[in-house]
Amino acid sequence: MSKHILVLPGDGIGPEVARIAVDCLKAAASAEGVSLTFDEAPFGGAGLDACGKPLPEETLDKARSADAVFLGAVGGPKWDDAPERPEKGLLALRSELGLFANLRPVKVFAGLEGLSPLKADRVAGADLLIVRELTGGLYFGEKREGRETASDLCTYSADEVARIARVAFRAASGRRGKLTSVDKANVLATSRLWRSTVNQLAPEYQDVTLDHMYVDATAMKLVTHPSAFDVILTENLFGDILSDEAAVIAGSLGLLGSASLGEGGPGLFEPIHGSAPDIAGQDKANPSGAIASAAMLLRFGLGEARAADRIEAALQAQLKSGRTTADIGGSLGCRAFGAEVCERLAS
Ligand code: NAD
Ligand code: IPM
Ligand code: MN
Repeated sequence: MSKHILVLPGDGIGPEVARIAVDCLKAAASAEGVSLTFDEAPFGGAGLDACGKPLPEETLDKARSADAVFLGAVGGPKWDDAPERPEKGLLALRSELGLFANLRPVKVFAGLEGLSPLKADRVAGADLLIVRELTGGLYFGEKREGRETASDLCTYSADEVARIARVAFRAASGRRGKLTSVDKANVLATSRLWRSTVNQLAPEYQDVTLDHMYVDATAMKLVTHPSAFDVILTENLFGDILSDEAAVIAGSLGLLGSASLGEGGPGLFEPIHGSAPDIAGQDKANPSGAIASAAMLLRFGLGEARAADRIEAALQAQLKSGRTTADIGGSLGCRAFGAEVCERLAS
C-alpha cells in the first residue's frame, strides 16, 4: 500500500530545501520499491497569504490524514505586522497533532570534522541526540502582552515531563546508555519538578546512567566536550536554543534534521533551521538538514529503514566528496547539491 506524505514548503528557503527533500524521498523510495504519494498545502506565511491564517483548516485536515508531514520552514519579515505570526501556525500544528517529542540528532562522521568551525579534535566522535519537549513550557503558557509589562507563563505537569522523559530513557537505552537531563533547577520551579520526575523514572531504566546538568553549563560543555553527551533531555525553550548551538558541532545550522512525534498519528519532519530570509531565493541554502529530515520521515514516520539508510549514506558520501554548499565551505548551490545527492540515491 502506498504511504501519503503532506509537504508544507512554507516560506523563505523552506520551499527550496523541501523540493530537494521530496526529490530525495522519491529517488530513495523508487530504489527500494516503496510507494509514496505527495500532496502540498499552504502553511506559515504562505498560509497567511493564501487564506489569511498561518495554519489553514484545510492544511490541518490534510496533515491529520497524512501518514507523515514534511515541513520546509516558516516565517520572515514580510509577516512582522500580520495579525498572526507564521510561527503561530507551527506551534498550533505541533500542538494539534500532539507532537510532544522532538528528536534532533547531531553526529560528526569520521572525516567530516573539518566542516565544523570548532577545532577538529574537539568535535571528533560527537554523536548526540537532543530530546526536546515540544508542546509545553513557555511556548504554550498564558501570555500577557501590555505596553508596559508582558509575561509568558511556564508550566509543566509531572505527566508531561514523564512522557518526554520516557522517550529519552528509551532512546538512551538503544544508544550508549547515557542520559543527561538539562534544566535550571537552581532557579525555576518547573525545573525542580522536571528533575524530580525524571529521577523517579530512573529505576525503571537500569541500563541507563542518568545525570543532571544546568542549562548554562550545558551550553558551555556542548562546544567544549560534545562527545561527552549521548542523549540530552530538556524542555521546550532550552531544547530550541541548545539545538541551534549543537548545529555548530556538526558544522552548520543547515545540516540538522528533526522528527516531531506523538503517540500514534502522523509525525512532522523538518530541518531545525528557519526560513533564512538573508539567503532566500538565492539558491544558497544547504538542503542537508531537509534531506536528513526526509530520512527521519522514512525511518520514524513510515518504518522504511532501508530507504532511510540509503538517504543517510548518500548524504554522508556527498558531504565527504567536498562538493557542498557555501555555509560549510563549498561552492555548490542548493539545487546542484540536491541533484548530486539524488544521483547517488539512484545508483
Ligand atoms: P534561521 O535559521 O532562518 O537563520 C539563521 C542563520 O542561519 C541565517 O544566517 C541563515 O542564512 C543561516 N541558515 C539557516 N538555514 C540555513 C541553511 N539551510 N543553509 C545555509 N544557511 C542557513 O533563523 P532566523 O534568521 O533567526 O529566523 C528567520 C525566520 O525563520 C524567523 O521568522 C524564525 O521565526 C523562523 N524560524 C522558523 C523555523 C521553522 O520553521 N522550523 C525554525 C527557526 C526559525
Ligand atoms: C524551531 C523553531 C521554532 C521553535 C519557531 C519557529 C517557533 O525555532 O523549530 O526550532 O522555536 O520551536
Ligand atoms: Mn529553533
